[in-house]
Amino acid sequence: MAEIARRIGVPDIRAHKDGVPIVCLTAYTTPVARAFDAHADLLLVGDTVGMVLYGMSTTLAVTLEMMIAHGQAVMRGAQHACVMVDLPFGAYQESPQLAYRAAARVLSETGCAAVKLEGGAEMAETIRFLVQRGIPVCGHIGLMPQSVQAAGGFRTTGRKQDEAEKLRADAQAVDAAGAFAVVLEGVVEPLAAQITREVSLPTIGIGASAECDGQVLVADDMLGLFTEFTPRFVKRYADLGAQIGPAAAAYAEDVRQRRFPAPEHCFGVRKTR
Ligand code: KIV
Repeated sequence: MAEIARRIGVPDIRAHKDGVPIVCLTAYTTPVARAFDAHADLLLVGDTVGMVLYGMSTTLAVTLEMMIAHGQAVMRGAQHACVMVDLPFGAYQESPQLAYRAAARVLSETGCAAVKLEGGAEMAETIRFLVQRGIPVCGHIGLMPQSVQAAGGFRTTGRKQDEAEKLRADAQAVDAAGAFAVVLEGVVEPLAAQITREVSLPTIGIGASAECDGQVLVADDMLGLFTEFTPRFVKRYADLGAQIGPAAAAYAEDVRQRRFPAPEHCFGVRKTR
């Protein structure tokens, strides 16, 4: 009898601490989730969806409904990888109760395994509230795109002593609150490595350190589909965006020259001998 592969769960992700690095990628659609599923341990339906698919300049206008719709799309394509969905700006910061209602909707309406939310010590109470009620939470500290207005831009953090101390305390707080993992975004390399050694939960780096317990990249960045702004920490593994314009140009030329559709694309064409 064929063996049915079990989906990777939150405890499996947690078990990567100090082991083989967690492979995490963002995904927002069914076809991309299907393509990544065999290769990734963890798929993140990130609120970067607003920037890379909807052309927004920040993630602030992304709604819970958008996250649920994309979470459902990714769950349709992923059979193997653990899937977590970002809680968007405004859906959780106000109170643990509001966060619970948003997270419960995400889990029940998408079938995903976990949610991710941004914030360190200030979100510890909320993380604890969710975890104690059965909702697995991944933290996210360092560069927090939902706080871009307060931070004055998308900036790397941890260079100054006070920033570094705060980040260490944030990581400890998220860990103590029961998160199963924490994303370290835009954190200077030695500090990301130090935090990774200091906490009991796995760290997932993006613009952080090779010593993190896992790495995440935004799919559209690594595939060359989002090219308006490419942070230095992105490694591009394909240049798919470059193929779209020439494909559209070839199609346009075929249509104008009546080369498309050809007989093989039409129904009921009489064959000539
Ligand atoms: O929303 C997102 O894609 C993220 C990653 C950058 C980690 O949070």
